[in-house]
Amino acid sequence: MHADLAIVGLGYVGLPLAHEATRAGLSVIGFDVNQAVVDGLNSNVSHIDDLSDDQIAEIRSLGFRATTDETELATAQTIVICVPTPLSEDGGPDLGPVRSATATVARNLQAGTLVVLESTTYPGTTEELVQPMLEAGGLELGKDFNLAFSPERVDPGNPTFGIKNTPKVVGGITPACTDRAAAFYGRFIDTVVPAKGAREAETAKLLENTYRHVNIALVNEMARFCHELEIDLWDVIRLAKTKPFGFQAFYPGPGVGGHCIPIDPNYLSYNVRSRLGYPFRFVELAQEINATMPSYVAHRAQNILNDAGLATKGATVLLLGVTYKPDIADQRESPAVELAEALVKLGADVRFHDPYVERWGVDGLSLTREEDLDGSLEKADLVVLVQHHKAYDVPALVDRAERFFDTRGVTAPGEAHRL
Ligand SMILES: NC(=O)c1ccc[n+]([C@@H]2O[C@H](COP(=O)([O-])OP(=O)(O)OC[C@H]3O[C@@H](n4cnc5c(N)ncnc54)[C@H](O)[C@@H]3O)[C@@H](O)[C@H]2O)c1
Repeated sequence: MHADLAIVGLGYVGLPLAHEATRAGLSVIGFDVNQAVVDGLNSNVSHIDDLSDDQIAEIRSLGFRATTDETELATAQTIVICVPTPLSEDGGPDLGPVRSATATVARNLQAGTLVVLESTTYPGTTEELVQPMLEAGGLELGKDFNLAFSPERVDPGNPTFGIKNTPKVVGGITPACTDRAAAFYGRFIDTVVPAKGAREAETAKLLENTYRHVNIALVNEMARFCHELEIDLWDVIRLAKTKPFGFQAFYPGPGVGGHCIPIDPNYLSYNVRSRLGYPFRFVELAQEINATMPSYVAHRAQNILNDAGLATKGATVLLLGVTYKPDIADQRESPAVELAEALVKLGADVRFHDPYVERWGVDGLSLTREEDLDGSLEKADLVVLVQHHKAYDVPALVDRAERFFDTRGVTAPGEAHRL
């Protein structure tokens, strides 16, 4: 059997890729080490927010199949690796999944294959780690197979930009590798942008996420002193963003979450430090500021209760929205966890409401999930809007709550306590 594409790692990145490529008419198989994920997909069950069960059924009817049998990779013309790149215990990159996925590909690599790494990683990974592993079996890059890096830019929950209409950067180890990878993605993505090489493509992804990380830290730091100076930062940003050039609005919040912003910039700073011996100061400072936002928000919550003559110890605090982004169920690295931890430590009775989350807890402690939003608003000494899901009618919530702390700047000035 022959497949146009085999995807290694069927998560938030791999599955949308499978969806887009299959719909464009490519024959696609998906390989994953997680048997439950594979069984679920083969029974039309999606495990990610961005694809519904119906969409899995649709691509399965078009021929998509998931498998745990690595030998099937040998049937594919192109293999794309989309496995996680988490941080290790010491805060450095954990390339364990990339190594193991590359070893799987290497064992099954056939002459004539194009291999692409999409996992976010530090510059040099494709050339220094993936290439030698793939060549260890005797096949030679450029002559027998091609290799490229193409950063994934999936933005879970974004209704406007998906895989097809988000330009795709591709950087090959050789110019011929770039050309081949560009031709491959051009089959189902509107705009493909060739890079000078794999390192530039790897670094472009890290620049994008570091840029967000640093600018979020900038407004988070400003949020603290603007509050002290009685300046409404939300209004400041509203004014600044009327400038039609040279400014892009970023907003403060209770911390950064998800699989990318809190993690990827560390890949770059770790790499700079270990190779060159000096720090990437912007990243380290941004990390420091963003990481302290949950405890800052807890502190502000404590002050709001204090001003009302209430101790935090024993107060009922209701957190609205605990996912890391609005309108999705993904809780990875959500700053709501650290916020809840800080409030629990202060003795508050912390409860949560989130239409997307059934069970949630911190420090091994399962927190009460409020089913009845109206009733829980009235019972709470303080309501904290942590994530602004569209389902929340914020003005109505503010009306019902005794005290409302808006960490997302969605209330009108003077309507509630704002970050
Ligand atoms: N999630 C996002 O929004 C996003 C956006 C841009 C880039 N990225 C990057 O894309 C990469 C993948 O992230 P994700 O969010 O899709 O991860 P994920 O955790 O959703 O999915 C990864 C999948 O890979 C599988 N896997 C792990 N090791 C494997 C192996 N050795 N062989 C085969 N399968 C294996 C896991 O079982 C899992 O199903 C990461 O580098 C991430 O930084 C993610």
